[in-house]
Amino acid sequence: VRQAIAILDSGVGGLTVAKELMRQLPLEQIIYLGDSARAPYGSRPADEVRSFTLQVVDYLMQVQPKLLVIACNTATAIALEDIRARVNIPIIGVITPGARAAIKTTRTGVVGVIGTEGTIRSGAYEKALRKISPNLRFAAAACPLLVPLVESGRYSREEALEAVRFSLEPIRSRDPEMDCLILGCTHYPFLHSIIQEVMGPHVTLINSAEETAREVSTVLYHKGIQIRPGDPPDPPRHRFLCSGDPQLFHRISEQWLGSPVIVDAIAWQAIRSS
Ligand code: DGL
Repeated sequence: VRQAIAILDSGVGGLTVAKELMRQLPLEQIIYLGDSARAPYGSRPADEVRSFTLQVVDYLMQVQPKLLVIACNTATAIALEDIRARVNIPIIGVITPGARAAIKTTRTGVVGVIGTEGTIRSGAYEKALRKISPNLRFAAAACPLLVPLVESGRYSREEALEAVRFSLEPIRSRDPEMDCLILGCTHYPFLHSIIQEVMGPHVTLINSAEETAREVSTVLYHKGIQIRPGDPPDPPRHRFLCSGDPQLFHRISEQWLGSPVIVDAIAWQAIRSS
């Protein structure tokens, strides 16, 4: 099936999922929407996150994608069920895949998670983890300083180390048996090596992007809607839409994806009145 896979995030974070999808499913076409104008979502009230997310979903549905990836933990935690009730295509969030990956990885049964205030407040990770493994020990911390750093392109070691150290302090010393830490925000893989440096080598970082892409692949094949060789223009022409500063989004996305990217700016006023 030639239709695209749609991906949404509050900004550039979902590119970590997009990159993994491009690696695992190189023939599939992606349409990505980063709502940078309104990022971060993580410190906003749940109702606002829900209404922004549904607006982004409605926008993306205009291109009739075959599957939608909510590549934002905050939006997944708050709005996944509302989105499922609204649209009739397969919807994949990032929380269950991340929880599953952590459970596969931990040896001690002590799992940490870092995320935005909205994600941590929702308790969605704890719920997802306990559903699979009720006796896990669990620790969580919100790290509100990190998304703005990534969104503004300041994620180099020199620029981000202090903020990462400060943000991880509450979780770093919580439980010496913690052997894996879920990066429960799609922006955090941009800071992967700095987070690893601060946590130390005995903690495995879980990036839900890989597991999410695997789930997308499983669902596409299960439903028989994967692209078949010869189907699409080859290589696929991905589309990137951004509600904020397109130049900044362009710079970060090319740097992260390592290939040329064309970014189209979108304006919400036009959509609200339509
Ligand atoms: N990247 C998103 C997440 O995974 C949201 C970050 C934000 O906008 O606060 O939660």
